[in-house]
Amino acid sequence: MALWSGRFSEKTDELVAKYTESISYDRRLYPFDIQGSKAHAAMLARQGIIPQADADAIIGGLDAVLAEIEAGKFDFKQELEDIHMNIESRLTELIGQPGARLHTGRSRNDQIATDERLYMRHEAEEVTAQLAKLQKALLALAERHQDVIMPGFTHMQHAQPVLFAHHLLAYVEMFGRDCERLADCRHRINRLPLGSGAIAGSTLPLDRNFTADALGFDEVLRNSMDAVGDRDYIVEFLSDLAIVAMHISRLSEDIVIWFSQEFAFIELGDAFTTGSSLMPQKKNPDVAELARGKTGRVYGHLMAMLTTMKGLPLTYNRDMQEDKEGLFDSIDTVKLSLATLAAMLGTLKPRTERMRQAASDPALMATDLAEWLGRHGVPFRDAHRQVGRFVGFCAANGIALDKATLKQMRESIPTAQEECLAIFDAAHSVSARKAIGGTASENVKAQIEYWKGRFARN
Ligand code: ARG
Repeated sequence: MALWSGRFSEKTDELVAKYTESISYDRRLYPFDIQGSKAHAAMLARQGIIPQADADAIIGGLDAVLAEIEAGKFDFKQELEDIHMNIESRLTELIGQPGARLHTGRSRNDQIATDERLYMRHEAEEVTAQLAKLQKALLALAERHQDVIMPGFTHMQHAQPVLFAHHLLAYVEMFGRDCERLADCRHRINRLPLGSGAIAGSTLPLDRNFTADALGFDEVLRNSMDAVGDRDYIVEFLSDLAIVAMHISRLSEDIVIWFSQEFAFIELGDAFTTGSSLMPQKKNPDVAELARGKTGRVYGHLMAMLTTMKGLPLTYNRDMQEDKEGLFDSIDTVKLSLATLAAMLGTLKPRTERMRQAASDPALMATDLAEWLGRHGVPFRDAHRQVGRFVGFCAANGIALDKATLKQMRESIPTAQEECLAIFDAAHSVSARKAIGGTASENVKAQIEYWKGRFARN
C-alpha cells in the first residue's frame, strides 16, 4: 500500500507503478535519506513536537534499516515508489507507531532536495579527490621528465618548442580550476531545504537552524517555494562536471595523437591499451578514446536537465524526478574516467628522441628570430614580415632555415647578425622563454614546486 493511498479507492495501475517509480535508481541516496531523517526526528523531539522516546525509537530504527541495506538484506519495493517511502515503511514495520511520526512537518519535496544536497556535497568531495589524483599523476610525469622538449602545436601545426612538462602542467592548471569550481558550487549546494514542507512551510514550530547544524549545512534556504521548486544546484554541478569532461577529452585526444604511429611521442603500458580481434599487430589507446567519448553523455545530461527544468511552473513538479539518473551517471562517469586516466598516466613514457627530433625543425624558431630583431630595434611587424620573407626564400630554394648563410639571410633581413644563425636551436628557444608563464625550465620547475606545495598542504 502506498503511504499516500488514503484518498484513493482504486489500486495504482501496474504501468503507472512502473512508470513513476524511482526506487530502481534513487536507492543510492539511502545513507543521506537516513541521515536527514535522523536529524529531523531529533529536531522534532527537541521542539516537543514528538516525544523524545519516539525520536529515540526512530533513530534506532533508522540505524537498523541502514544496517539491513548495507548488508544487502533490504527488500526494495517498487510499489513503495522511492527511497523515502521504502525506508519509512520499513522503519514503521520495525518499530511500529513511532515510525508513523517521522514524517511530521516534512514532505517528500523538501526531503528529496535535502537528500540530493547531502549526496552532492559528498560527491563534490569525491570528484575533487579524483581530480587531485589525476593532477598528481600529471605532476609526477612532469617532474620525471623535466628536460624533455617537444613541439608545441597551434592549429595542429608545429608552433614553437616547449617542454613536455609545460604541456602536462597546463592540464594540472585546468583540473585545478575544475576543483575550484566544485568548491564554489558546494557553497550553493550546502543549504538546507528541509522544513519547507511540500511548498509553503509548516504550521509546526520547526527549528530549521538546528537541523541545518545537525546536517552540517551552512545555511537554511530562506524561501520554501524556492527550496522545493528549483534544481539549479544540479544544473550547476552538471555544468562543472561537463567542464571536467571537456578537459578530460582534450587530454585524451592529446594522448591518442601522441600514441599514433605518425607521432609516436609516447608509450603506454600494455595493461592500459587493448588489442584488435582481427589485426594482431594493434595496440590501441582505448582508455583515452573512451574517456574522450564519454564526454558526450556528460554533456547530454547537462542538456537534459536544463531542458527538463525549462519553463516548469513553480514549485515541485514530478518532472523533477528526472533529475537523478543523469546526475548519477555524470558523477560515476567522470570519477571513473579520472581514476582510469590517472592510472594510465602512470604507465606513460615519452619517446624523448622522437619529440626532440620533431621539435628541432628550425622553422619552429622563426618567432625567436623575429623577437631578436624586435629586441634590436626593428618594429615587430616589420621583423615579422622580414622573417616571413626569409622563410619563403629558404622554402623556394630548398634551404633549411638553419643552413642559410648570413648573406642569404640579409637578403630578407638587412640587419641580421652572426648571432641570428645560432637562434635555430630548440633548447635555446625553450630556455629563452623566461617571462612568467613561459616554458623555460626555471618556470616549469617553479610550477612543479607550486603544485607540490599545494598538494603538501592538503
Ligand atoms: N521521488 C520523488 C522525486 O524524486 C520525490 C518527491 C516526490 N514528491 C511527490 N509529491 N510526488 O522527485
